[in-house]
Amino acid sequence: MYIVFEGIDGSGKSTQIQMLKEWLVANGFRVETIVEPTDTKLGKLIREILQRPDATSEKIQNALALLFAADRIMIMDELEDESKIIISDRSFISSLAYQGNPEWVSVLNKYAKKPDLLILLDLDVKKSVARTSDDDTFENEEFLTGVKENYLKLAKNYEHQIIDANNGVNKVSSDIKKAVAPYLGLCSDCIR
Ligand code: TYD
Repeated sequence: MYIVFEGIDGSGKSTQIQMLKEWLVANGFRVETIVEPTDTKLGKLIREILQRPDATSEKIQNALALLFAADRIMIMDELEDESKIIISDRSFISSLAYQGNPEWVSVLNKYAKKPDLLILLDLDVKKSVARTSDDDTFENEEFLTGVKENYLKLAKNYEHQIIDANNGVNKVSSDIKKAVAPYLGLCSDCIR
């Protein structure tokens, strides 16, 4: 099973993925996690470009879409291991939500694996901005409002669960477990 976590910056993906992973492992599943952009040279180059003052320009966004897609292709094989549950922090759906230009992004991600389950961590934009106080390119209110809207539209194209990420960490975690449980034959009502 390939579970993808998506959400605007500061929505708590990495913490929640870790908590879900621990719970699944405790329930006897083998779990692998993936983070996009990756920790490779290419991923580091992407993070560098994201810091450029002109990173939101159309030109850089189109170039970034290529780099994100290339970074993703390089880890494709890891998604083929069917003996494990793969949980990914972001996917091509981030490119659709952040880069815009759906024709371009779709062509580049033609071979990207579709999630079996998309978990969308839905956070208020104001909270996102407050949580991510560094000057990353994408962390401004107007931009993130558009990304959030894109996500809510995009989610409909996949098997998905929208989780209210404005709650405390433990509440969000139990909401995620309750959402995931039925897909794995686990008991949702047993989760506190
Ligand atoms: P992320 O690692 O989630 O953020 P952080 O720097 O807080 O750890 O992602 C880095 C940024 O990359 C984030 O702002 C979203 C953006 N991004 C895209 O724009 N397109 C993509 O395809 C992906 C995977 C990420």
